[in-house]
Amino acid sequence: MSCDSAPVGFVGCGRLGLAIAYVLVRAGIPVCLGSRDGGAKATACAQKLGSLARGGSYSTVVQSCHVLFVCLANPGQSDPVCAFLDAHREALSGKGKIIIDPTNPYSYAQLPPPQPHQSALTYHAAYLGDPSTHWATAYKSIMWTSIEQYRSACVMHGTGTHARWYHVA
Ligand SMILES: NC(=O)c1ccc[n+]([C@@H]2O[C@H](COP(=O)([O-])OP(=O)(O)OC[C@H]3O[C@@H](n4cnc5c(N)ncnc54)[C@H](OP(=O)(O)O)[C@@H]3O)[C@@H](O)[C@H]2O)c1
Repeated sequence: MSCDSAPVGFVGCGRLGLAIAYVLVRAGIPVCLGSRDGGAKATACAQKLGSLARGGSYSTVVQSCHVLFVCLANPGQSDPVCAFLDAHREALSGKGKIIIDPTNPYSYAQLPPPQPHQSALTYHAAYLGDPSTHWATAYKSIMWTSIEQYRSACVMHGTGTHARWYHVA
C-alpha cells in the first residue's frame, strides 16, 4: 500500500494524531502519517500501526490524501499550523481537500489570541483563504489517552454538500 491509496492523512505524529490514526486503522481505514523530519518518524510510527498505515513527509501526505488531520502542537513563538499552511499553500489550494483541525492553540499558548477572538478552525481557515478547502474539527476536547479506548467513534468532516460522517466501530 502506498500513501496514494490512503484517503486519510495525518500532519504530525504526536500524541493526538497517533491516537486518532490508531482508531481509524483498527476500523480498517488506511492512513498516511506525516512527520516534519521528512517522514522518518512517520514511517517508524506507521510500522507500529500495521499494514494499513504508511509514513512520509508532510508533502507526501498533502499530495496523497484528500482528508487531512492537522495534529500539530500548541504554538510557542509561532503557530505550527500557520507554518504548515504557508509551506504547503500551493499544494493545498484549489484541490477541494477536507482539513480536520483539532488544535487548541490559544489554551496555554504564549501567543495572544487573535483579535477579534476566533476558534482555531476559523482562524486557520481564514489564514489559508482557499475557498475550495472544507474545514471541520473533531476530537477537540477529548484527551488522547481516552481515544484509543473508543469502541465506537464518529468523525465528522466537511461542510455543506460535502458533509459526511464516518462511523468508526
Ligand atoms: N493531546 C490531546 O489529548 C489533545 C486533545 C485534543 C486536542 N489537542 C490539540 O491537538 C494539537 C496536538 O496535540 P498533541 O498533544 O498531539 O501535541 P504534541 O504531541 O505535543 O505535538 C504534535 C506534533 O506537533 C509537531 N510539533 C511539535 N513541536 C513543534 C514545533 N515546535 N513546530 C512545529 N511542529 C511541532 C510534531 O510533529 P512531527 O511528528 O511531524 O514532528 C508533533 O508530533 C494541540 O493543538 C492540542 O491542543 C490535543
